[in-house]
Amino acid sequence: MKYGHFDDDAREYVITRPDTPRSWTNYLGTTEYGAIISNNAGGYSFFRSASEGRFTRLRFNNVPMDQPGRYFYLRDQESGDFWSTSWQPVGKPLDEYKTTCRHGTAYTSIESEYSDIKTETLYFVPVGQKFEYWKLKVTNTGSAPRKLSVFTYCEFTNHWNIDQDQFNLQYSQYIGKATYQDGFAQMAVNDNLPHDWASIKRDGNAMLSWTTLLGSPITGYDLSRETFIGTYGSYAKPDVVASGESTGSTTYGENSCSALRTEIELAPGESKELLVMIGVGKASIEGKAAVEEFSSLERVDAEFAKLKDFWHSRLGALTAKTPDADFDSMVNVWNAYNSLITYTWSRSASFVYGGHRNGLGFRDTVQDIIAVLPAIPEEAGKRLELMLTGQFSNGGALPVVKPFDHEPGNTPMPPKEEFRSDDCLWFFNTVPAYVGETGDLDFYNKVLPYADEGEATVLGHLRRALEFNLERSGANGIPCGLAADWNDCLKLGYNGESLFVGFQVRYGLGVYADIANKLNLPEEAEWALLQQKILDAAIQKTCWSKDRFIWAIADDGTVYGTHDSKEGAIYLNTQIWAVISGAATEEQARICMESVKEHLATDYGAQLCAPPVETMPVEIMAARLFNAGTKENAGIFNHPQGWVVMAEAMLGKGDSAYEYYNAFNPAKFNDKAEIRQSEPYVHCQSTHARYSPMHGAARLPWLSGTSAWAYYSSTAYILGIKAELEGLRIDPCLPSSWPGYEATRLFRGMNINITVKNPDGAETGVASLTVDGQTIDGTLVPTDKLKDGSQIEVIMGAAVPAGA
Ligand code: GLC
Repeated sequence: MKYGHFDDDAREYVITRPDTPRSWTNYLGTTEYGAIISNNAGGYSFFRSASEGRFTRLRFNNVPMDQPGRYFYLRDQESGDFWSTSWQPVGKPLDEYKTTCRHGTAYTSIESEYSDIKTETLYFVPVGQKFEYWKLKVTNTGSAPRKLSVFTYCEFTNHWNIDQDQFNLQYSQYIGKATYQDGFAQMAVNDNLPHDWASIKRDGNAMLSWTTLLGSPITGYDLSRETFIGTYGSYAKPDVVASGESTGSTTYGENSCSALRTEIELAPGESKELLVMIGVGKASIEGKAAVEEFSSLERVDAEFAKLKDFWHSRLGALTAKTPDADFDSMVNVWNAYNSLITYTWSRSASFVYGGHRNGLGFRDTVQDIIAVLPAIPEEAGKRLELMLTGQFSNGGALPVVKPFDHEPGNTPMPPKEEFRSDDCLWFFNTVPAYVGETGDLDFYNKVLPYADEGEATVLGHLRRALEFNLERSGANGIPCGLAADWNDCLKLGYNGESLFVGFQVRYGLGVYADIANKLNLPEEAEWALLQQKILDAAIQKTCWSKDRFIWAIADDGTVYGTHDSKEGAIYLNTQIWAVISGAATEEQARICMESVKEHLATDYGAQLCAPPVETMPVEIMAARLFNAGTKENAGIFNHPQGWVVMAEAMLGKGDSAYEYYNAFNPAKFNDKAEIRQSEPYVHCQSTHARYSPMHGAARLPWLSGTSAWAYYSSTAYILGIKAELEGLRIDPCLPSSWPGYEATRLFRGMNINITVKNPDGAETGVASLTVDGQTIDGTLVPTDKLKDGSQIEVIMGAAVPAGA
């Protein structure tokens, strides 16, 4: 079943049926002013933080799941019939109500037709501003003149902290005041405190927001939710809309909303445009200033054009034209956009994350950065530096870095039991990718503070990261899992050993040696390679179990994930990272990837483990808390799917890499939305695995490491386009059915055109490579051979030895 389609030229996803299986959402705004909107205009807005700056309300896990939101109700003054400009909340029968929603890059538009009235709404936050627009155009498509009342609706929170708003009602129902003056509704929380509403330290200050309606005189208002909706009313049938009588209610505590009203008369064929603005600050100051500068319709159009330019230029950093339209929709638009959104919001704001995970989760953020490097290298570099300053001088890291109040050099070190083992190991993927993107080798010499005290060069930070794990190795010489490794549910005891971390450290040591050589520090390289050798020996001694690598060894010596284990007998991450890290021998690599295919692969992605954990000690395998076949308990965790693609590609298996990629490519399930259910244009954190009766249902859209690794694996491994310190590498690993592809890549300010031809259906291998007609040996095009507009041509096939 399908509910919409991709429109890649417009960089939009078009939803043609509004009764989607879940709310299909989009993001508006930036980290200063953020907002989420569903295909039925549900959603919320927040200032800086979804949990501490939430000023409009969405009731989580509501029925329907996306209410309230940003609504326009229309009421025919003659018949008394009313509807909304998005299908919900009124929800007219779909045989009479036609609607199309277009989710674009940080904007959403909804078009509807009902009762000879056509409406077009457009929602967005102008770049860099602290307010949002809802623009509405109403057209009379019938043959009779019409008189309509229009009511706007958004619901304010009673406190910007969502827990206070939703649960601490004995307090929060007495602290808000919604008032109306000079065309503005203003919501003031803790109005008696100083109006320093934008302060970073918000405690002790009032929280202020405002709305207004422009383009037609305001003829009535209701700011009390109870009055507008009615104590026993609903968003589908608010009392005031049903009766057509606004009451001029305000609030003194209780619940506040902004329901501003205007009347419009439309001759046949006539249109009218209205504008709602909502923002943070004082109505008489910030509201007034925003209206003065930004409320003309020309300005709205100009801001909209600016917003599109802003996003489209970012998405344009890498474009591909392959034989697979679904692959292209993701690489060119949605996966790139998804990654930028994930980078922006970490795990803090969605319809699933309420904002409690406030700030930048350490490991997640370091991984998120890898996907946005082509689009925003400088900005991502700053974020990377911020994360490096979240590392403690012992080499471990803060769980979360809060960009608005992080104080490097001044953060108390947590107790040793609280450190996770993998946080800083992700730097070994992201830091070299950043240096590859920018060519800035000197970045490794940049001195940055630690979170607690002291400072080191970036190289020094990397060495501390490795030492942290090497110093915390267990009885078998494998690094410990500590409070958790990548898998939040794995708690092996303080000295328990995690092979995934072992592989990450192995990978990190190799990367470190490589960097040290580039910096001409042979002793550093030697140190790393020696440590790697010692670790390799430990891994080979204890971690291979017939046809797989084990999962982990708890501190009581129990080995998890062995060939004959009853539960969790095979763990995905240790198979694929055995390959990615280079620890597996050629034979082991082949065998363990075969085991992945046999035991873990499904049509919707590879399961994290098999069989599920049902009786193992929950103190160690906290995955047992989850229903079998979901999340970390043998669910299809999507975050590692990109690693599966990378592992297959590293082994030269183009067909297999592509098959794994397709299994979790959301676009491939566009026509099976009844199974996958979540947005077909967005990656999800996990999918129900075959042990679940809901096999194939994907959950937790947008904010997941899945996006970054999907993007990275498809662009740097399948397309094989990778920015490296010395130049641009083109080393594709394609499905044999692809005759090739074309791509463009922004690389250090130069637009590079790439054509790959695959005449013999090879999966890997470059037979010849030319840049602007000049032949290059190998797959790396040195930077000095490139200029803006350069054309790289690759012919795949068995590599021709140099000079042959
Ligand atoms: C979630 C977390 C991530 C973790 C993963 C596996 O996605 O955000 O940090 O690695 O779960 O447990």
